[in-house]
Amino acid sequence: MTGPALQFNGKRSSRRRLIIALVIFFISAISISIYTFARQNYHGELQFPTPESASGFSKDVRVEQFIKPEGIKIIGLVFFGRKNRVEILRCFLERNLVDNGGWLDEIHWVKNTDKPKDLEYLDEILASSSRYKKIELEGTGFIGYGYAWTHLEPGQLYIKIDDDVPWFADDTIPRVVTSKIAHPEYLLVSANLINSPLMGWVHYHMGAMHPYLPEFDVYDPPLLDAITSDPSRKPWRYTAYPNWTGPDDYFFDAFQDPPYDGHRWLRLQNDSDIHRTPVNDIEYKTWGNAVQSWAIAAQGHYSFLENLADGRLDRYKMGKNWLTDYRRLSINFIAIMADDVLNNLPMDTVDEEWLTVALPKTLGRSIAVETDALAVHFTFGGQGKMQQTDLLARYHDYALENACARRV
Ligand SMILES: *[C@@H]1O[C@H](CO)[C@@H](O)[C@H](O)[C@H]1NC(C)=O
Ligand SMILES: *[C@@H]1O[C@H](CO)[C@@H](O)[C@H](O)[C@H]1NC(C)=O
Repeated sequence: MTGPALQFNGKRSSRRRLIIALVIFFISAISISIYTFARQNYHGELQFPTPESASGFSKDVRVEQFIKPEGIKIIGLVFFGRKNRVEILRCFLERNLVDNGGWLDEIHWVKNTDKPKDLEYLDEILASSSRYKKIELEGTGFIGYGYAWTHLEPGQLYIKIDDDVPWFADDTIPRVVTSKIAHPEYLLVSANLINSPLMGWVHYHMGAMHPYLPEFDVYDPPLLDAITSDPSRKPWRYTAYPNWTGPDDYFFDAFQDPPYDGHRWLRLQNDSDIHRTPVNDIEYKTWGNAVQSWAIAAQGHYSFLENLADGRLDRYKMGKNWLTDYRRLSINFIAIMADDVLNNLPMDTVDEEWLTVALPKTLGRSIAVETDALAVHFTFGGQGKMQQTDLLARYHDYALENACARRV
């Protein structure tokens, strides 16, 4: 008696299963294509500041105690290499042009690559402002660096900035310039850099580092997220992410490989857990683990983004200079007078060694870090694995939200 009915139901349900399967198949196919498309368009397009959009900047800086020195040009010297780095820096640089209320009279772009795609972008930048000049080099890398320093204009003040500086504050340039001019005895004044072989140790001991670890469980973004949220954005605020969870005795070595590409680091809830995170071992040493370990660098960046989000950048500042003489310091963001370089050429070794060790010793002049002038340096050569974190996307997101012009 129940036989035929069951058979009938069976046929109907298998047809229904087929329809459901087809619907699921199509939805999945569409979702996957949207998701793949979204991933490929990971980088949103950055827009550049105009005098109107940057007006908040000029007010902030002018209200402070800084007065731009007269009779001297302040020139940005940027070693241009990689488009995906420079496009973030460019927003910050343009905010700092005198036209937009900043202190940079000119920017000299040193061509430090031969890659056609990157060079196309350099041409685009050069065409965008009459305040930009290109410095052509014979050869790239260290030989090129030395050559660039012979092209300084006498009498001017230079701010040398690496192309992988993805953040600096509105007052950073005014602060390093003011400090350099107030202290002619220092050969150069550096900004206080996040991810620096020496300053990372200082930041740790000032309480500016926080406990972060790579996410313990592999994180798969739900398909729906990719469809409903803006795929080009990775929120820069740590509060947009969950806290770290995992075993209490879990330990991540400073030289361990990243867990997977695109992974993220999460905040451990208990501050005292910092003792089981990579930064616990950080050294005050030019060639030490702060420059060799991608994990220590990553933790420095995630900690910085937390301090930035919490409005606690004071954690890095001492209200005075920190002297590093005569230890070699990285020169990712420095202020130096052209004549101090030109009068002492030739540069008989790598520029960084010459500027922070050799010449200071010869002249008996210190190198100072202006601890209140903050900037971020993304990676050193040995920290390449850090590119497997989501950090660059977070800096990109910050730039879009705060440094670049808003889309109208
Ligand atoms: C993470 O932990 C902190 C401190 O216990 C807490 O205030 C915060 O709400 C937690 N965040 C999330 C997303 O659960
Ligand atoms: C943080 O960890 C320490 C050491 O394990 C422990 O004594 C303390 O109770 C913890 N604090 C919280 C809020 O869990």
